[in-house]
Amino acid sequence: MRTRRSLALAMALSLAATPTVTPAVAYNIARDYSGQTFFDGWDYYGFWDNLTLSQVWWLNETQATAEHLAYVNDAGRAVIRVDNTTTLPDGAKNRDTIRITTKDFYDYGSLWVFDATHLPYGCSVWPAFWTKGATWPDNGEIDIVEGINLMDHNQMAIHTLDGCTTDKSIVQTGQLGSTDCGTGSGCTVRESKANSFGAGFAQAGGGVWATQFDVAGIYMWFWNREDVPAALTQNTSAIDISSWGTPSASYPTSAQCNVTNYFTPQQLVLDIALCGDWAGVQGIYSQDCPGTCGVAGPGSPAYDNAYFEINYVRAYTTGPPLPSSTPVSSTTSTVAATVITSAPVPTANTDTGNKNGARRIGSSVGVLALVASVLGMLVLS
Ligand SMILES: *[C@@H]1O[C@H](CO)[C@@H](O)[C@H](O)[C@H]1NC(C)=O
Ligand SMILES: *[C@@H]1O[C@H](CO)[C@@H](O)[C@H](O)[C@H]1NC(C)=O
Ligand SMILES: *[C@@H]1O[C@H](CO)[C@@H](O)[C@H](O)[C@H]1NC(C)=O
Ligand SMILES: *[C@@H]1O[C@H](CO)[C@@H](O)[C@H](O)[C@H]1NC(C)=O
Ligand SMILES: *[C@@H]1O[C@H](CO)[C@@H](O)[C@H](O)[C@H]1NC(C)=O
Repeated sequence: MRTRRSLALAMALSLAATPTVTPAVAYNIARDYSGQTFFDGWDYYGFWDNLTLSQVWWLNETQATAEHLAYVNDAGRAVIRVDNTTTLPDGAKNRDTIRITTKDFYDYGSLWVFDATHLPYGCSVWPAFWTKGATWPDNGEIDIVEGINLMDHNQMAIHTLDGCTTDKSIVQTGQLGSTDCGTGSGCTVRESKANSFGAGFAQAGGGVWATQFDVAGIYMWFWNREDVPAALTQNTSAIDISSWGTPSASYPTSAQCNVTNYFTPQQLVLDIALCGDWAGVQGIYSQDCPGTCGVAGPGSPAYDNAYFEINYVRAYTTGPPLPSSTPVSSTTSTVAATVITSAPVPTANTDTGNKNGARRIGSSVGVLALVASVLGMLVLS
């Protein structure tokens, strides 16, 4: 999602033919974010957007509650929205909205499912459901749901340090876009199915995305409401994804991009930005919207559709189910974070220069085991 700084890091890529690794197909539920407890497992940003310089103030939890911008509605769905009640004076820079990040980090061997009935859209609006490592953007970024303004389709992407590329030989139903994952836009794939974003998504009853984070690669599926796999709609605790078919977007581990070199355990992020360096670029903004991008003054857009309405976010693992007694990490800013680890991970990848003291656990064993341990570490959010 984010234009990232270009770091010249020479990643040595094997020129030898790479063996094909088969992705896992069997998963157990690890974490379910839904209903009245949806917001328990997330941290609020609580600062202006000093990351991508979009025109928002991402509220802290106290403010979010007070301004009613993050809550569970009468239908039991989580709502995350932009302030659409304040008329900001002309020239005001930032409008209030939300960015939340899971307290937990999910390692290779994870599958994340996101079910929404409404995504934020409208002029200047730039929402995303995405993932990041402890150090952003160095530890990798996966953009699962992302779009701007009045786009009618979702755009998926991965962002990495220099050295990872994709090409048209990759098997996926989406349309290949940029192929250098280390540049500003990342490696993009445009969703081909109808109603994956905007007004069309909401009118079609929403839909579901699943993202597989595996040493064999990163794969994303999208289903319209009527096509969602039964195991997901029935909320079974164990699921088999072998019948899911060709993903919308595929990033298979290969000689041109061994994903294990670029991604550390990932946190899930939900946010809404406004204007900024994609939605607000004049040549892009003016394709959909009048004037120039701004969030204040008489000409500012309406934000009545700038909200997520979410049935659930679920994380599954190739390890055994997480014991139900395992608590979501506490709500203080310095917390004990859990790393959900489920698959053996190459030892060469155990540390990629994380500056924050986070480390992966349980990665050296050659058995599939879920380890939900507590590390004293500072959670970024
Ligand atoms: C990916 O890199 C890891 C080491 O980081 C290595 O063990 C694995 O064999 C590589 N996979 C492929 C397909 O090259
Ligand atoms: C953004 O602000 C947060 C909160 O003050 C701070 O922790 C973080 O270091 C800042 N990040 C950048 C890139 O300036
Ligand atoms: C939330 O933000 C408000 C406004 O900046 C600030 O006054 C308050 O102390 C913050 N609360 C917490 C818990 O950080
Ligand atoms: C789905 O199952 C999980 C446990 O596996 C449970 O916590 C959650 O409440 C269920 N969601 C619904 C909507 O029933
Ligand atoms: C804000 O948007 C909601 C719909 O998302 C709408 O019901 C409400 O009336 C709007 N508020 C204002 C002040 O326009």
